[in-house]
Amino acid sequence: MKRSLRTIFWPDLTRRNSEAIELMDLAGSCGWKLRNTLRCFSLTNLLFSSSRRLLRDQVIGDMLSSGGKARTLVDLGSGSCDIARGLARTARRLELALTIYCIDRDKRVVDFARSVSKDGAIRIICDDALNFGAHVPEPDYVFSTHLLHHLGEGEVERLFDAVAVRCRRKFIIEDLCRSRVSHFAMTVFSPLFGFTFAPVDGPVSMTRAFTVGELKRLTAGLGDGWRVQVNKAAVGHLYILGEKVRK
Ligand SMILES: C[S@@+](CC[C@H](N)C(=O)[O-])C[C@H]1O[C@@H](n2cnc3c(N)ncnc32)[C@H](O)[C@@H]1O
Repeated sequence: MKRSLRTIFWPDLTRRNSEAIELMDLAGSCGWKLRNTLRCFSLTNLLFSSSRRLLRDQVIGDMLSSGGKARTLVDLGSGSCDIARGLARTARRLELALTIYCIDRDKRVVDFARSVSKDGAIRIICDDALNFGAHVPEPDYVFSTHLLHHLGEGEVERLFDAVAVRCRRKFIIEDLCRSRVSHFAMTVFSPLFGFTFAPVDGPVSMTRAFTVGELKRLTAGLGDGWRVQVNKAAVGHLYILGEKVRK
């Protein structure tokens, strides 16, 4: 079926399309393109994501202001673990004891991450993000970036519930922010990364992403124990910050 230029470049994104499929989520997708895609995330994270700043302010800042105790962080849907490696380096430089558990459900991704991450502060686990409690029952911090839009209907709510029950101090969940402008930019610029899944997955991921309003509604019921904010972040991104309310 032929698609019009309008549906390719400027589709109706009023609703999230959780049925759209990303190539990187298919078990049989091309291995070398998957590895190239993971390598590229290190660059795009550096350029477009606010993860490093959020982790520095919220996690490193919290560790410094709470007496430098040994802490644990879980990174859900960790990909090549580039963010975790940067965080581990920062913690070490400041002599902070932070153990990072990286969880990704794709064995191919985990094999790649293990081949590039030799940091002793990082443990890489192959499992579904929703099952993180089996590996780290009560992490001090939960972090994820670019995972939410991969989750299906109902999974996002289950993840938020698990995080709210188990996390001890703060959670930071960053992702793409669905908008027509960002979708247009993805459609125009992602073909430059033709050696990765980006030309297909970039626009698809934008149709699967959430808006600030949707995530505010989904996190509204997390309970009295949490102060939660959902904000727009750098280029085409948003983040949820949850802070445990101390009584
Ligand atoms: C777009 S990549 C992001 C990787 C990394 N967080 C980054 O930003 O560079 C999404 C990752 O989430 C993983 N993933 C998707 N669904 C998952 C799930 N239910 N549980 C754990 N990992 C998942 C994928 O295998 C993939 O490595």
